[in-house]
Order: sequence, then C-alpha cells, then structure tokens
Amino acid sequence: MNGRSCLTIVLAAGEGTRMRSSLPKVLHSVGGQTLLSHVLAAAPGGPGTLLAVVVGPGHEAVADEAKRVRPDVMAFVQGQRLGTAHAVLAAKEAIIRGADDLLIAFGDTPLISADTFTRMRAPLQAGASLAVLGFHARNPTGYGRLIVTDGRLTAIREEADASDDERRVTLCNAGVMAFDGKTALQIIEKIGNTNSKGEYYLTDAVGIVGELGLTAAVIETSENEVRGINTKAQLAEAEQVMQTRLREAALEAGVTMVAPETVFLSADTSFGKDVTIEPYVVIGQGVTIADGAAIHAFSHLVQASIGRNASVGPYARLRPGTSLGEGARIGNFVETKAAVLEAGAKVNHLTYIGDACVGANANIGAGTITCNYDGFNKHRTEIGEGAFVGSNSSLVAPLKIGAGAYVGSGSVITKNVPDNALAVGRGQQSLREGWAKRFREMKLLAKKPKSG
Ligand code: UD1
Ligand code: CA
Repeated sequence: MNGRSCLTIVLAAGEGTRMRSSLPKVLHSVGGQTLLSHVLAAAPGGPGTLLAVVVGPGHEAVADEAKRVRPDVMAFVQGQRLGTAHAVLAAKEAIIRGADDLLIAFGDTPLISADTFTRMRAPLQAGASLAVLGFHARNPTGYGRLIVTDGRLTAIREEADASDDERRVTLCNAGVMAFDGKTALQIIEKIGNTNSKGEYYLTDAVGIVGELGLTAAVIETSENEVRGINTKAQLAEAEQVMQTRLREAALEAGVTMVAPETVFLSADTSFGKDVTIEPYVVIGQGVTIADGAAIHAFSHLVQASIGRNASVGPYARLRPGTSLGEGARIGNFVETKAAVLEAGAKVNHLTYIGDACVGANANIGAGTITCNYDGFNKHRTEIGEGAFVGSNSSLVAPLKIGAGAYVGSGSVITKNVPDNALAVGRGQQSLREGWAKRFREMKLLAKKPKSG
C-alpha cells in the first residue's frame, strides 16, 4: 500500500494457562487452521513488508508453524514473559531495520482481517504516531479501556489499574497497534512497569505519545473481528464466528447448502461451481471440491480432493490422501484413506479402501476391504480400469488386480489377478438335495411324546 514499508510483529509468547492444555495457545485451531496462521495470513505481505513472530522459550513448534505459513517470517524468543511491550522488544533487531510502519498484532486474535491492517496504517500516513484498534465490547471486563478526552485518545487503562469510572468505558483495546516507524522504538523503550501487575504494558505507549506532543488515533472495528482467545469457551465462540463467515462465503461463491448452519467448513476449503453440500457434513482442512460435485448428508472429509460431478455419501468418511476423479462415486458407510479413485470408479457401500488406486470405471462391491496392514507395514492395492470386485471380498495387499478382471463375491484374494481374468478364492459350495426336509422331519419325530 501507498509505497510505505511495513514490519508486522505478532506476539505469541504467552503461556495460555487458561486454555488448560499442553498445546501452546496459538496452536489451537479455528476453521481447521491454527490461531497463529490466521493472523499471519492476514498480516501485510509482498514487497516492502517484513514479518516477525515472538515466541516463548521452548515453543519451537510455534516458530515452526509460523514458518510453515509464512516462510519469510523471522522468529524471536522472549526469554521471560514480562508483558506485551517487553515482548515487542524481543524483536528489536527487526525494528532497528527501520520500516515506515510498525504493526503489532496478537497471535490469540485469529478473526482479524487484512483489510483492518490496511486501515490501521492510514492514520500514520496522515501524520499520527500511533493508531490503536478499538471496539465496543458487550462485556468489557478484562480488556484495556480506551480513554478519550476531548475527542483525543489520551491513555489505555488496563482492567487491573482502572478506576470505577474508567471501568464503565466500553470502548476497548483490541490489541492491534500501528506505530510510525520513525518514533516507534523511542516510545516503546520508554515504557516502564510501575503498575499493579509489574508488567511492561504496550498500552502505555498511548500516554507516552501524548507526553511527547505526538498524536494517537483510534480505528474502530466490530467485536467479532477482535475476539481474543484465552479460554476454551472463547475458542468455541471464535469458531462460531469463523463458521458463519465461511458458510456465508461459500453461499456467496454459489455452493448450495439447504442447512448451512449444520455444515462445518475449513478456512482453506475450496469449491468449484454448482457444488452441493447436504446437511451435517464436516469438512476438515485441505479439501477441494470441483464443479458439480455433491457431498451428501453426514459425511466427514479431511485432506481430500473431489473431482467434477463426483458424489460422496451419505455417511462417507474420506480420510487424508483421498482423491476422486470425475464422476467417481463413494456411497454410504465407505471409508477411504490414501486412495485414488479414477474417473467413474464406484465404491457404493460398506467398504474400506486404503493405500489403493481404483482404476477408471472399476466397480467395487459392497463390503470389500483392502487389507492394507499386516500389523507392521502398510501395503498397496492396485485395481485396474474397469475391474469388477464382487461383494464382501478381502483384497490382501500388496496386490494388483488387472484391468477388466473379475473377483468373485466373498473371495479372499492374496495373489495378483491378470487383466480380464476371473479370480475366486472361497470355499466350494456343496449341495444335498432334500436334506433340509429330512432334517426337519427327524427333529419333529424326536420331539413327539412317546405313547404308551
Ligand atoms: C491485552 C491488552 C489489553 C487488550 C487485550 C485484547 C496489554 C497490556 N493489554 O490484554 O489492553 O484489551 O489484550 O485482547 O497489552 N504476550 C507475549 N509476551 C508477554 C505477554 C503477552 O508474547 O510477555 C502475548 C500473548 O501471547 C498474547 C498477547 O501478547 O498473544 C496478549 O497477551 P495477553 O496476556 O493475552 O493480554 P490480555 O490480558 O488479553
Ligand atoms: Ca488475550
């Protein structure tokens, strides 16, 4: 934007004690993606931008996640957790490089949008030294309050340090701040820790800006965009906001959903044209659904690619590595994992297809199982184009079934089947004419009370 360079620092060194979890707080997910990844994805990117994340000691997993999402990110460790201003200074090395704008965001505020970051930078260009993101909280308890006197932002008061009057203020600090790069370091280094918690509060920057005769602006946004997550209850609330957004975006993109409130999506779900999703479908991360595909009710999909006009469910479970070609069909109570179904392949009922490739137009009968695991290793099954596997067959991998081959129902197939062959592997049927009738007569006779 506007040719100004920008450094964004995302603070993510908190313990997240209130989550009561061994997982660092910012690695919890909403919309199938970590809290941290949402913030990083919204942060300014491209030429003239730098990105830094501040992580807690021993939280390499947080730095790794940041690098996965934005390989350009610089990671800094805050050795001791002494407050938000102290956390910013952990990235001093990056600040010294001297960007025009310095944005500070929190890793536990995942619903923030790229547009808001852009709006925060506008007052800096207009001459302000600091812009603070504010919102009207329905319940302001716990948030820093924005103290506005004569139309000017003069201070931010943390809950613990606020007077009764100040606590009645509902305009709150969302946590995102934008500093003019020229004075940022000078201001942040002035922040002390004489407050009830003995922490270095970044929010004290506002008072210092005033003392220096500089100006601080407020940019307002909605509460839903800046919900901070400290507890599992807040995580669930944020998920609700995220799901509403994702459903609206999907409807907007032309997806048909008759009960969108029952469908769960991921932030990275991608849809083609004329996709239908029936009620009670859960879509985890890494799912793409091509034009004309239908996902029927009660299906669960993760890391799966659904081809054009393919059909899934009802009651299907597609696990990671599933790829369905054009017009492929997965029916009820079918589970797939690391499975490629080529165009027109059909797996319609009660089947497990794992570590397998099913050729174009092949038909897999009800109850077929690819036996892919021997207790130690996984093995592959390859089924050729146009093959027909009869119901209730066990395909013991590693195994190849040739193109156009037939497998008789109820077979246990352990050896490769050539193209166009018939393989049957089951007990021979025996027949005894009239046996059932004789059996019944014998039993009835044995039951009759003995006379005399
Ligand atoms: C903070 C703000 C408060 C604001 C609220 C919005 C301060 C002093 N308070 O309070 O005004 O209304 O957010 O949600 O800034 N962090 C570190 N290192 C630290 C301390 C915190 O990296 O030493 C990180 C945390 O991981 C978190 C963020 O900074 O991502 C905010 O910290 P948190 O303790 O959650 O602050 P709040 O009490 O919520
Ligand atoms: Ca917080």
